[in-house]
This record gives sequence, C-alpha cells and structure tokens, in this order.
Amino acid sequence: MRSRYNILPMPFLLKNVLVLVCGSVAAGKAPTALRRLREAGYTLQVIATARALEFVTALTLATAAESEVHTDLDWFKVQPGGKHLELSHFPDAVVVLAATSDTMARAALGLSGDLASATLLSVRCPILWVPAMNPRMWEHPATQGHKTTLESWGHHFVGPVSGKLGTRGEGAGMGRMVEPEDVVGAVRALVTARDLEGLHFLVTAGPTREYLDPVRFISNPSSGKMGYAVAKVALERGAQVTLVTGPVSLTPPPGAKVVQIESALELKAAVDAAFESVDAVVMTAAVADYRASKPSSEKETKTSSALTLELTPNPDILKGLGERKTHQILVGFAMETDKGVDKAADKARRKNLDFILLNYPARVGEGIGFGADDNEVTLVRPDGTFEVWERMTKLEVGKRVLDGILERWKERNVK
Ligand code: CTP
Repeated sequence: MRSRYNILPMPFLLKNVLVLVCGSVAAGKAPTALRRLREAGYTLQVIATARALEFVTALTLATAAESEVHTDLDWFKVQPGGKHLELSHFPDAVVVLAATSDTMARAALGLSGDLASATLLSVRCPILWVPAMNPRMWEHPATQGHKTTLESWGHHFVGPVSGKLGTRGEGAGMGRMVEPEDVVGAVRALVTARDLEGLHFLVTAGPTREYLDPVRFISNPSSGKMGYAVAKVALERGAQVTLVTGPVSLTPPPGAKVVQIESALELKAAVDAAFESVDAVVMTAAVADYRASKPSSEKETKTSSALTLELTPNPDILKGLGERKTHQILVGFAMETDKGVDKAADKARRKNLDFILLNYPARVGEGIGFGADDNEVTLVRPDGTFEVWERMTKLEVGKRVLDGILERWKERNVK
C-alpha cells in the first residue's frame, strides 16, 4: 500500500469555470461572485438565462467575469455544432448561480430547451448548484426530489442558507443564496485535488489574551486570517483539521474541529492534548510572550501614581512540541523587524521545526500582514536556506505552506 506520506504536491492549476446565472432575485449577487471567482484565479465563461437578464444586465455580468456572456439569443443563431456543445468543452467545473427551482427541474428531467439546460446535459465535469429561492419552493417535494436526483448523479450543492429573503413580505427562511466568498470556497473544493485525505492538521490562529484583571488584557493585533486560511485550504484538500483559535471575528471554515482559547496557557493545553494524534502542526497563533504574574480577580481601580506590572514568561508552546515531536511536521510563523532570515532560521533550529514562515510587521500599512488579506512571506529552513515568496493572498500562502509540508514528507520518505 502506498504510504500516506508519499504524496506529491499538486501544482497550482488555473481552472476554467462556466457559470450559469439563473433568474432569481439573488442574481443581483452574481457580479460579485463572478469578480471573486476571477480574483481567485479562475477563467470564466458565463451563460445567463432569459429570466436572469431581467435581474442583471449581460454587460454587468460580462464586465465582472471579463468574458463574453452567452444567452438564448446567441443559441438560436444559426451555426454549425451548437453553442452548448462548443461551451461544454471549456469548463473544469460548472456553477449554477442563483439556481431556481425551474433550472433544477429542467436539469433533473434532462430537458434541453434553452442554452443553460442544454449545456448542463452536455458537460462532463463537476456541477455545483448554488440555489436561491423562496423557502416554500425550496422545501416543496418536487424541488427536493430534483435535488436528490441531481445528487445521485454526483452534482454538488452549496446552500441555500437560512436568512432574510429578497421577496417582499417573506421575512426569513431557508432559501437564501450563500455569500459570494462561499461560492469561491465551494468551487475551489470542487477543482482541488484531495491530496491531504487521511491526514490530520493542527492549526493555531489568532492572538492570545493575558488578563490583568477581568476587563483588561495584554494582546496583539493578530486577526487570525492566516491560520483560518491554512485551515480552510487543508479542509478543501481533504484533511481533518483541528483549529485552535484565539478570539477573532472570523467564522471558522465548515468541517474544522474548533477549540476556542483565550490565554497562552489555554492554547498550550489544547495543542498538547491534540499533538499525539496529528500529522502536522501549523502554528500561526500570535502567542503573548508574557502573562500577568498576579492577575486580579476584581477590576483594578486606577490611581494617580505610576503602575508597575510584573509579568511572567509564557511557555514556548512550539518549542515544547519540537521536543516531543516524533512523526509530526512542525511549521511556525515568525514576525521579525530586522535580520529576518538569520533569526527565523535560528528559531526553526531552537524549536526543532521543519520550516518557518517569516513576515515583517513593517508592511502592515500596505495591506500585508496583520489583519490584511495578503501576506508576503519567506520560507526559512533550519539550515538557513530560504525561498522568498512574492505578495499573495493568505489563502495562496496557506496552499503553499501545505505544499511545503507535503514536500517535507516526500524528503523524509526518500531519506
Ligand atoms: N510561539 C509559541 N509559544 C510562544 C511564543 C511563540 O509557540 N510562547 C510560536 C508562534 O506561534 C510562532 C513561533 O513560535 O509560530 C515564533 O513566534 P515568535 O513570537 O516570532 O517567536 P518567539 O520564540 O516568541 O521569539 P521572539 O518573540 O523573541 O522574537
């Protein structure tokens, strides 16, 4: 049997996505979803149904997708081969956005009287449905039956979710389309190799809080975005993920086992408990190096005199894992202001890490680092060799960190 560590990293492939926009009121969200898909690196083609064009113009869709928009009007033009067959060769995945009960029914019944339905019958790639409709229409046995049929053919669904609906007087209910970001995540999951299946990742994220009294604490501006991005990509690639997270305002990726912590000592307890059973640890948490020696159980009242705080060093959690490490791959993140590579390599050696990702706080104002969506990092190995990575999204950094972990397993296997 092939060792589960003997897995080659997949190169990052840009993929072609064909988006079918349907005539639900949620079609208004289609331009944002198209823009997000394009920003995530996908090349798009768009089909809009006749009803969709009553909610959003073809020009808006074309501008967002940076592609032509195909409609029933082109389809009826006399041409050899047929537009649906020509389009069916393009996609690696099809997304049916703002999917209506009508489009689902046509697909489930194999009807082909319009360009969208005919294309759905012609493609041979994964199909993702993103429904958006009135809850009563969604829950109707006809729609649910069509969903079951489509799923039995391997079609995928994301949403709908419960929430406020676009139809006047309808209030809330199960039928609202998921947000554009969730569409991107679901598409990524569809076209990404599940090369981490069977592996368990422990990811830490966010800041710790070291309370001085019940209402004051020492912390840092970590947003948790880097760790959440690693967790999300690992899940999309089929891994099991335990996400130990400090207080952040992010929603954990679906499927992660989430352990909420506040202090460094709580983080240490959670990480130590999970360590034995995991294959790799990615430690993005910004751990406070000190905690109050004598935290007060009552709120401290201010005085006019200077206040001296006595702080006790927190344990180095990652170093502790480095001492216990057997089969696990250990990855740290380091923020340095100068002599970055040397200091990071030294940290990687001291903590017995496989590699460490170096980033610089000085870049925060440029949309990189703490709180931002992008990061610019350097991968540093304990032997001092390093790779400078250009600026990229944290999701892409996460993906490359996971590729780096797979490389390490490969190296270990070879040795
Ligand atoms: N780390 C940890 N426990 C600590 C401090 C840091 O596990 N008490 C982890 C971080 O999560 C990170 C790595 O160690 O992955 C490097 O963190 P960093 O703060 O840069 O390193 P320190 O060892 O704290 O060094 P210094 O603050 O002196 O630069």
